[in-house]
Amino acid sequence: MSRCGVLAGVVGLAGLIEQAQAFVGSPVLRARAFSPSTSHKLSMVTEAKDSYDVMLLPGDGIGPEITAATVNALEPLQSLFKLNFKEALIGGAAIDAEGSPWPDSTLALAKASDSILLAAIGGPKWDGNPRELRPETGLLAMRSQLGLFANLRPAKVMKELVDASSLKPEIVEGVDIMVVRELTGDVYFGTPKGIDELPSGERVGYNNMIYHEHEVERIAKVAYDVAMKRGKRLCSVDKANVLDVSQLWRDVVIKMSEDYPEVELTHQYVDNAAMQLIRWPKQFDVMVTGNIFGDILSDEASMLVGSLGMLPSASMGNPDGPGVFEPCHGSAPDIAGQDKANPLAMILSAAMMLRYDLGRPAEADMVEAAVDVVMDKGYATNDIQREGTTAVGCKEMGDKVKEELAKLVAAGAGAEAAAVGEAAAAR
Ligand SMILES: NC(=O)c1ccc[n+]([C@@H]2O[C@H](COP(=O)([O-])OP(=O)(O)OC[C@H]3O[C@@H](n4cnc5c(N)ncnc54)[C@H](O)[C@@H]3O)[C@@H](O)[C@H]2O)c1
Repeated sequence: MSRCGVLAGVVGLAGLIEQAQAFVGSPVLRARAFSPSTSHKLSMVTEAKDSYDVMLLPGDGIGPEITAATVNALEPLQSLFKLNFKEALIGGAAIDAEGSPWPDSTLALAKASDSILLAAIGGPKWDGNPRELRPETGLLAMRSQLGLFANLRPAKVMKELVDASSLKPEIVEGVDIMVVRELTGDVYFGTPKGIDELPSGERVGYNNMIYHEHEVERIAKVAYDVAMKRGKRLCSVDKANVLDVSQLWRDVVIKMSEDYPEVELTHQYVDNAAMQLIRWPKQFDVMVTGNIFGDILSDEASMLVGSLGMLPSASMGNPDGPGVFEPCHGSAPDIAGQDKANPLAMILSAAMMLRYDLGRPAEADMVEAAVDVVMDKGYATNDIQREGTTAVGCKEMGDKVKEELAKLVAAGAGAEAAAVGEAAAAR
């Protein structure tokens, strides 16, 4: 059992966190509820271990900079457990070095890893390439070969960035939504599809919106499990008033609610959900929906947050394989190599990796809390500059998060030692 696991058994995680908070003394930390690990595990979560193999895919543009900043920021965790980082190629960098955007060597390393942290791919250099030599083709190959059917996109509004949203502060303040999107089915992949010519000479284009029960079951299970780890409220989004495929979706989601009596299940039609996200987004905890509706709603939800540089995401699936954790933004070629990129979306993606793939929810909370403190202290990269903030570059932002994370880890270790001492004295 890990040191944290032992400690949680002695004093309870809540006690540990309270001591850590008192040590750090930040109002942000006091306000933040460190979620205790629940026994309800996601189907794809690895058991907590002392050592993890994490594949790094820096990719292109700002990718290498934000990857370096993220690895640096996570360094304090190495005293709790080992994160063995191994780099591999994807996207344009892989095309240049290996002639493929998703080389076999990368796939092999991916399959041997516990988890994958991806930065971003693409850039103008490869835009004119044929489809098989485009960086995006590497992303699609990765998703399909690793069986990544679930996409998790949080939209959490930090209080420091409330004014960066296009909505009024009272609407967005406190918003904390997780959109769970099915990623490998629906009208994007259904067959038959195509453009045919009718005998009249007129052309007709068509796609097939199709879901099998097992596809709905597995994504609904992810959503219910995520809801159990959060506010236990799940809103399933469909178009069951019009579409048969949505009626099947709804039937399956309702049937599965029998296994999750603690989760409050609601349903919204997709048109209403799109309105409600703008009208009163605080009503949502976890939303689950199909591929095409999720594509649109997750982008809509992320805009509540106001900055691309703050948005993490997770793609997961095969319980025996690694998940992929990556910022929502692209490779930002316009600022690449200038130390201007915001690494926080990638650092927050690493927090999702700890929570959803590596069985380390307490450490995920610590990483997120460290980011909160850095924001609270007013450090900001170019993209999130506001009045009264201190400008920092990509590397320094990583250093600041590392500094705060080190304090939290040290506070946890101190609390652990004290608790073990107290327990020994009581015996
Ligand atoms: N998953 C991915 O890897 C992914 C996603 C989207 C786009 N792309 C690729 O990225 C390239 C650029 O695409 P784009 O310009 O449309 O989108 P982009 O997200 O790269 O950039 C959009 C704008 O946001 C800024 N920005 C993005 N991330 C930032 C960060 N972390 N810190 C500060 N500013 C940031 C950029 O400077 C730019 O002004 C294209 O080749 C595109 O295909 C990749």
